[in-house]
Amino acid sequence: MQEFSDRVAVITGAASGIGLGMARAFSARGMKLVLADLDQSALDRAISEFSDAGVQVVGQSCDVSKLDQVEALADKAIGTFGNVHVMCNNAGVGIPTSARNMKLADWKWIIDVDLWGPIYGVKVFLPLIEAAGEGHINATSSMAGLISSQMMGAYNVAKHGVVALMAATERELRSKKSPITASVLCPGPINTNISRNSVEFRPGRSKPKVDGEKSAKMARNIQAGLEQGMDPDEVGELVASAIAENKFWILTHPRWAKGVQNQLDALREDQTLTRA
Ligand SMILES: NC(=O)c1ccc[n+]([C@@H]2O[C@H](COP(=O)([O-])OP(=O)(O)OC[C@H]3O[C@@H](n4cnc5c(N)ncnc54)[C@H](O)[C@@H]3O)[C@@H](O)[C@H]2O)c1
Repeated sequence: MQEFSDRVAVITGAASGIGLGMARAFSARGMKLVLADLDQSALDRAISEFSDAGVQVVGQSCDVSKLDQVEALADKAIGTFGNVHVMCNNAGVGIPTSARNMKLADWKWIIDVDLWGPIYGVKVFLPLIEAAGEGHINATSSMAGLISSQMMGAYNVAKHGVVALMAATERELRSKKSPITASVLCPGPINTNISRNSVEFRPGRSKPKVDGEKSAKMARNIQAGLEQGMDPDEVGELVASAIAENKFWILTHPRWAKGVQNQLDALREDQTLTRA
């Protein structure tokens, strides 16, 4: 996609972190914004930031795990601006717990938000972008969508699904020579509020207790790692550039792809998961 000015971008999970970074990068290129999030007060703050700067912006409270709310988001975008050109399925959550011990309610919550959210996003928004005749559909996966680490089972499952969803979508678009393109964002550590927000939005809002101290230690390590991570505004710029350059894979830490190569080597050479 070459032209951003006056085009319309819809972003989920837009009130914080990477989604807010994308909104900043898109508005800097002259786009109109439709910002969606579950957190109304953070969304109100984001809307004020952009409207104060003269950006044409509208917000919508939306839980991406609910199809009717994703449909209402599309109605809001079309009702306000008449078209959608870029859609970023970015909202996501995650908590560290072993695959064995994670509660089924947490499996369902993570897969509903992190995988069904993007599935609903493609289902509802791709036809609208096609009707606009130009544009791009993106979803946020993770390095956890390319390689599965321990203690992040549900997150890995959802994020691998997001990679598969966007790869299938991109191949289908190319096979029919569509002017629309698709991409997947696979970030490494980014300095955002995801750990705090995930505890906040977890159904029941209780702290995850399964796996006891191991989970708690892992959550602390993840948070400490994220605080050293990339600035989410930098990620927004990467996404905007990748869309302009028709890239499919958007990696914030490409050197981490070495882990994917190691796994492929093990698969091909001795069929172990990880080579010694
Ligand atoms: N931060 C990282 O290091 C990192 C790494 C890899 C992938 N990611 C992915 O990046 C995406 C953005 O996360 P972030 O790190 O910016 O976190 P964040 O918590 O700062 O932002 C995520 C936003 O999504 C919103 N949200 C949560 N559940 C929602 C729902 N059901 N419906 C709508 N909105 C909802 C939150 O309110 C929040 O504003 C997620 O998909 C996450 O999995 C993050």
